[in-house]
Amino acid sequence: MNENKTNINWYPGHMLKTKKQIIEDLKLIDIIIEILDARAPIASQNPEIKDITASKKKIIVLNKSDLANEVETKKWIEHFKMKEIKAIAVDANSGKGVKETLKQVQDIMKEEIEKASNKGRVNKNIRIMVCGIPNVGKSSFINRMINRKSAEVGNRPGVTKQKQWVRISNNIELLDTPGVLWPKFENEDIALKLAYIGTIKDELIDKTNIAYNLLKYLEKNNKKELFERYKLTDEEINSIIPKENETLLIMNLIANKRGAIISGGEIDYEKVSAIILNDFRTGKIGKITLEKVNNG
Ligand code: G4P
Repeated sequence: MNENKTNINWYPGHMLKTKKQIIEDLKLIDIIIEILDARAPIASQNPEIKDITASKKKIIVLNKSDLANEVETKKWIEHFKMKEIKAIAVDANSGKGVKETLKQVQDIMKEEIEKASNKGRVNKNIRIMVCGIPNVGKSSFINRMINRKSAEVGNRPGVTKQKQWVRISNNIELLDTPGVLWPKFENEDIALKLAYIGTIKDELIDKTNIAYNLLKYLEKNNKKELFERYKLTDEEINSIIPKENETLLIMNLIANKRGAIISGGEIDYEKVSAIILNDFRTGKIGKITLEKVNNG
């Protein structure tokens, strides 16, 4: 992980600069790979991406698909297909889906290459750029595409990196630095989802509040997985009186089970919140998609 990169403060000036830069870079490329988080394809999409990339061919990568519900991911792929956008489920950690993405790049560009070839340009290169909001897995995906170990990527502070094209097959070149786009700031629901999946650094959020809201969400939508993970039962919850706030009660039970207790027996809310968020983000609670097609 690159220090600071998810701590970017997206003030309007910064957004404008980023947008200009990407529009500039787009002039050099043939096809854009937009990385979304498979667990939240709407919340993790940059709000202006459609406008920015309107004139370009595009593939959507639903990354971190190893953490998402497989059936829901398939529905999302169908959803994008109906909009005539090719979407591919990828796990950039294991590399699953990366080859398929390259194959799709070739397929989508086939016509252009034929056109170029008819005009006498036989060696037309396809140039790709990867973009997405922070933490969706852009660097991991790029590293996978070019078979590079992540240790080699680290941007050195203070050194402005030159744009570099890396050849990844005989006719495909990839820009080795991704376009980092700003996330949505539309409403609380989106902000919470972005916090659950780790877009917003924990230092910048109230971890306890986020974990509490996540528990509430899971209790409503993924109770089975939640209860299994922390060995909770309805009997156990019903036996506790008074029961004013069931979510808080669940949080307290998890804290007890996980030893998130401060000396004196008080609940360590910081600690239990970190456990819950980490369990969710690493898929330990289950493969959970936060946004469903149609009712996301
Ligand atoms: P970015 O360039 O878009 O900001 O994302 P980056 O590749 O740095 O990936 C962010 C985190 O997500 C990394 O975890 C990375 O290992 C993880 N990641 C990327 N792709 C996948 C995937 O397909 N599946 C899973 N499960 N994880 C993926 P990290 O280094 O631990 O960072 P952090 O968790 O401390 O932020």
